[in-house]
Parts: sequence; C-alpha cells; structure tokens
Amino acid sequence: MLVLGVESSCDETSVAVVKDGKEVLSCFTNTQIKIHEKFGGVVPEVASRHHVYQVSMVFEEALKAAGVTPEEIDLVAVTEGPGLIGSLLVGVNAAKTFSMMYHKPLIGVHHLAGHIYANAIEHEMKFPCIALLVSGGNTELIYMKKHFSFEILGQTLDDAVGEAYDKVARVVGLPYPGGPHVDRLAHEGKDTYHLPRVYLEDGSYNFSFSGLKSAVINLAHNANQRGEEINVNDLCASFQDSVTEVLVRKTLALAKEKGVENIIVAGGVSANKGLKERFMAEAKGFNVCIPSIKYCTDNAAMIAAAGYYQYQEYPGLADLRLNADASLEL
Ligand code: KG4
Repeated sequence: MLVLGVESSCDETSVAVVKDGKEVLSCFTNTQIKIHEKFGGVVPEVASRHHVYQVSMVFEEALKAAGVTPEEIDLVAVTEGPGLIGSLLVGVNAAKTFSMMYHKPLIGVHHLAGHIYANAIEHEMKFPCIALLVSGGNTELIYMKKHFSFEILGQTLDDAVGEAYDKVARVVGLPYPGGPHVDRLAHEGKDTYHLPRVYLEDGSYNFSFSGLKSAVINLAHNANQRGEEINVNDLCASFQDSVTEVLVRKTLALAKEKGVENIIVAGGVSANKGLKERFMAEAKGFNVCIPSIKYCTDNAAMIAAAGYYQYQEYPGLADLRLNADASLEL
C-alpha cells in the first residue's frame, strides 16, 4: 500500500511516499529554519505564507523522487493537528485537493501519533510499550497496549522540554532552534553547576521544566551582574544532565510499574545524544527504540507511517470536511 504523507504543522513543509508503513520511497522536506532563526522562534504568519509558497513544489518533488505517479498512490495521510493553525491549513487543503483531483482516500493523522510511528519505519513496534514523547510543544509519557491505543499517564505541567532547550540556548546566545546546539556543547562540558532535578511528588509521572529554565536564566543574569564569565559548555552539560536524568528515570519507573519492557522515544528532542546515551546506560533489560535523526524532527514519512497503521486499526476515512485543528487531542 502506497501512502502519501503530508506534514505542515509548524515550520517544515514535508511530503513523503511510504510503502506499507515501512519503506520510505521519498521524503522531501522544505525547512524554514533559516527564515525564523533571525526572530529567535517560529513566527506563525510567516510560516503559513512559506508553506503556501512551497507546498506544490514539495508534492511534485516527493512524487518524482519516489518514482510514482499520483494515480499509483493508495491513501493520502495528512497532519490535521495539533500545531499552528495557518500552517496546518495549508497541508490539509493541499492533501484534500490531491485527494479530490485523483480520487484517493484521505485520512487525518495526529501529529504526535506521527512522531511515535517514526519508530515503525526502522524498528518493529512491540506492545505493550511506553512512549516518551519529547518535542518543542510536548512532553508526555504514553502507555500503548496496542497499535493506535494511547493512554497519557504523564505530561509537563509547564514548559515542554524542547521549549526549555530553546530558551536556555537563547539565554547563552545560541541560535534557534537551540536544542542541537545545547546538545553539542553539553558534550564539551561537565555538570559543574548542579542544577535542580524536578521529580514532583512521589509516584508522579508528570514533568516540570520551568524551574530548571529559571535556574539557568538566574544563573546567567547574576553572573552578568557581577561581571563574571559563565562556562557555557558546563552550563549546557549541567542543564542536559538534569533534563535527561528526570526523563529517563521517570520513563523507566513507569515501564517498571506497568511491567512493560518496550520503550519508544519520539519527537524532536529524541535526536538528543545525551538522552540516547543515558537510555543506553540506564535502561538495562529494556528494549528501547529511538528513530534515526532524520525521522526525529518533523517530517512527512512519519505521518505516512502513522496513517498506514491508523488505517489498519480504524479504516474510517475522512471526507472533504476534514479540517485543521490547532489543539487536537491524542
Ligand atoms: O518535534 P519537533 O521537530 O517539532 C515539534 O515541536 O513538533 O521538535 C523541535 C524541538 C525543538 O525545541 C528543538 O530544539 C528540539 O526539538 N531538538 C533538540 C535536539 N534536536 C531538536 N533538543 C535537544 N537536543 C537535540 N539534539
């Protein structure tokens, strides 16, 4: 089954052709990072305009690279939410237009299901499992008994982990998006600042990163006031140690409580080397799946893969009333 995936929830316009939820024939992504970098974050209106400029070309390139014609596509899967509404609308309308022109069935896919199913491309997803979803907008622990069954057992009470990375990066003068830069510098430094680890009350699987973020901001501010230099590499290492310790230990605690040995890590922050290293070091006896970097951040191959499995579980199709939903629930 050939699925055409379409993703435009934030600042990436991406179209992919994926066979049977696994074999990526093409994944063409036009990123707007360079455009938003100068603003220090994504500007929604600018993002939607650029999706409009790029979307037709991205469809054409993805089909050309896959070597398939529109007539050969079996199913169109598009991110319907959550995300920036103007950005989502571009992808949803492009997918509906394609579906109408070529008489192809259409389904709407949840963006976070997409991140989780990025793992299905390179690994065999085994159930039951715990998914740790870490991105710019989300930090969640999800229990999955089977395909497309999502029970959210923990989430952030304030900042998402990627958001905390981006803010810390900005404070120490690193470009947007800051996560990869903090990750790189963390590997050049040591945990000398001993920042707080926020576990919340006993047995809680929720997260809180705003205190940690404020600790970094205050540290940088106070050093600045006193005319002292901060060691940016050590500060990044200290921040990353605090974040990865809490993420990994809470995930393992939940997996143990549920008696689950399969763990899936997903979302942009799953590209973090420190997080991977800590899972490898501490998750003995667990089967941990993390997508390769190209499938960690937003891309349409993960939407096509999710669309394939969603269609197997829930064959209901969308019609042309399918709409974008900025705050769609999983
Ligand atoms: O999943 P994603 O591409 O977009 C959504 O939020 O849906 O995630 C983007 C986030 C950004 O906050 C970015 O800084 C973070 O993922 N990120 C990382 C790394 N690569 C991307 N954070 C930490 N370490 C990384 N290597």
